[in-house]
Amino acid sequence: MSPPDPCWLSWYDHEDPSQPEVPLRLARVLVGEGGGYELRTVVPGPYEIPKHGPVGRLLTAVGRHAWRPAHFHVKVSADGFQPLTTMIYFEGDPWLHDDTISSVKPGLVVRLAEHDQPDRLQALGLDRPFYTGAFDFVLKPTAAEVDAPATGAA
Ligand SMILES: [Fe+2]
Repeated sequence: MSPPDPCWLSWYDHEDPSQPEVPLRLARVLVGEGGGYELRTVVPGPYEIPKHGPVGRLLTAVGRHAWRPAHFHVKVSADGFQPLTTMIYFEGDPWLHDDTISSVKPGLVVRLAEHDQPDRLQALGLDRPFYTGAFDFVLKPTAAEVDAPATGAA
C-alpha cells in the first residue's frame, strides 16, 4: 500500500496568522478509566522546517536537508504516571529514515490501513478512502506510585 495523500499544512499554529486565538490544529482528548481513545483527523504530510535564521545556517553548515517526516506531536498525562511527550510517525513516509532531526524510533511508527469499500464509505458519508491506525501509549508510574505500599485484602 502506498501512503495516503497527505494534508499539507505549511504553518504551525503559532506561525499562521489566519489561526484564531484558540488554534484549530490542536486537540485535547480526554479518556476514561481504561485509557482507550479514538481520534479522527487528517493524515499530515512531511514538511521542511524553517530554513531561515540560525537553524538554516546550521543545516547549511552540516550539509543537511530540512525535511521532517509527517507526524503528530502528542503529550499524554494521567494521575500517578510520568507525563509522556512524543511524536507519532507513519509507515511509508519518504523521510521516515532521513528525518533532519533524527527523532524517529521504530516503536513510534504507525501502519495505516486503507478503507475504500464503497458501501462503508457511503455509510459514513465519505467520498474518498479513509485510513485507520492504532497506537498504544504506555506511561511509567511516578516514583510515588512505585514506592506506595500495596493496598487491598491480604
Ligand atoms: Fe512537528
